[in-house]
Amino acid sequence: MVNGKIGYAVIGYGGMGSWHTRKIKDEMGEYAELVGIYDIDPERGKAAEENGIHAFATREELLCDERIDLVTVATPNDYHKEIVIDALEHGKNAISEKPVAMNSGELEEMIAAAKRCGKLFTVHQNRRWDEDYLTMKKILDENTLGPVFRIESRVQGSRGVPGDWRNQPEHGGGMVLDWGIHLLDQALMMTLPRKLKTVYAELTNVTNENCDDGFRTTLIFDDGLSFYVEVTTSNFIELPLWYMLGENGSAVITGWDCSGEIVMVSDWENRDAVPIVAGAGITKTMAPRTDDTIKRYPLPVQKADWGEYYKNVFAHLRGEADIIVTHNQQRRLMKLVEAVFESGKTNKVVEFEDIDV
Ligand SMILES: NC(=O)c1ccc[n+]([C@@H]2O[C@H](COP(=O)([O-])OP(=O)(O)OC[C@H]3O[C@@H](n4cnc5c(N)ncnc54)[C@H](O)[C@@H]3O)[C@@H](O)[C@H]2O)c1
Repeated sequence: MVNGKIGYAVIGYGGMGSWHTRKIKDEMGEYAELVGIYDIDPERGKAAEENGIHAFATREELLCDERIDLVTVATPNDYHKEIVIDALEHGKNAISEKPVAMNSGELEEMIAAAKRCGKLFTVHQNRRWDEDYLTMKKILDENTLGPVFRIESRVQGSRGVPGDWRNQPEHGGGMVLDWGIHLLDQALMMTLPRKLKTVYAELTNVTNENCDDGFRTTLIFDDGLSFYVEVTTSNFIELPLWYMLGENGSAVITGWDCSGEIVMVSDWENRDAVPIVAGAGITKTMAPRTDDTIKRYPLPVQKADWGEYYKNVFAHLRGEADIIVTHNQQRRLMKLVEAVFESGKTNKVVEFEDIDV
């Protein structure tokens, strides 16, 4: 503890590690005090010092500092397990960046270490506080569209996989473990208490041979809900972030600013239409609905504060709250990641043995 606050440190002071330090300093000063960082690259240590943050010379030195209660591990993915377990064994509570580990086996070792050491181990699934996700979740939870039979969730870039460790499989590169882990976590959390039955996936290697530069997967839940998740890095025209279809209406979110709308059918019986010319023929079935049989509504945009993530961790450490991101949720998520890889490699539908979370 430092001045009655949680003593906080980060291991791995790259893009995300430095973001954590800024957020803790700027927004969490009431609860936590940033003690310092450690990065294996001395240049990153220098960068931290230039930003007024103490850089420990070694990981051991950081982990032996008695002021530190909580460590966030923000290194490339293949180091999460080793460093989280080291932190736990030094008596620290630990947050791993996502993806928690390279596979389920590593995750189990981390959970066992947390139990053995009696310390908190959780994962930074920050995109549970994304406003677009929470807006779609609200529409689903409130049954706004009637029974929902299809949800599509996409993120689409056009720059391929970054050229650093993110395109090296031995470091846990590839888009399934990068953006995929966020969208798959959202899909699993949003649809609770449904159970996942099957997984079909395609992995892509459009720009990158080493590891996947994107994927598409269809998850089928026990009530028949079909949830499509897509991450791509070679799309020069983007499709909507979210698209949801219910029996009485549809909802769309077109961009990060939560632009979009809900369209509901107001008169299902009134579905006769004047044929329209469509390509080299005519159609009534696909003729657009007239305004007197549909109603348009704004999205119930949800406001969210990412800081709730850390506030929950701090409240948990004070014994005042259950942790939001749990071990069983992570087990389920890693199992899903493994099913996506298996299906992508075998081109077969994978039966999913779901677990309670
Ligand atoms: N939650 C999110 O929204 C989000 C966003 C981006 C990255 N991430 C995750 O954060 C982690 C880091 O990603 P990044 O974009 O910051 O990568 P990065 O390459 O910018 O930074 C990684 C840092 O870790 C350091 N490092 C490597 N091995 C180390 C070791 N053994 N000990 C100490 N330091 C070590 C590197 O020198 C580098 O400074 C990844 O797991 C990534 O998936 C999460």
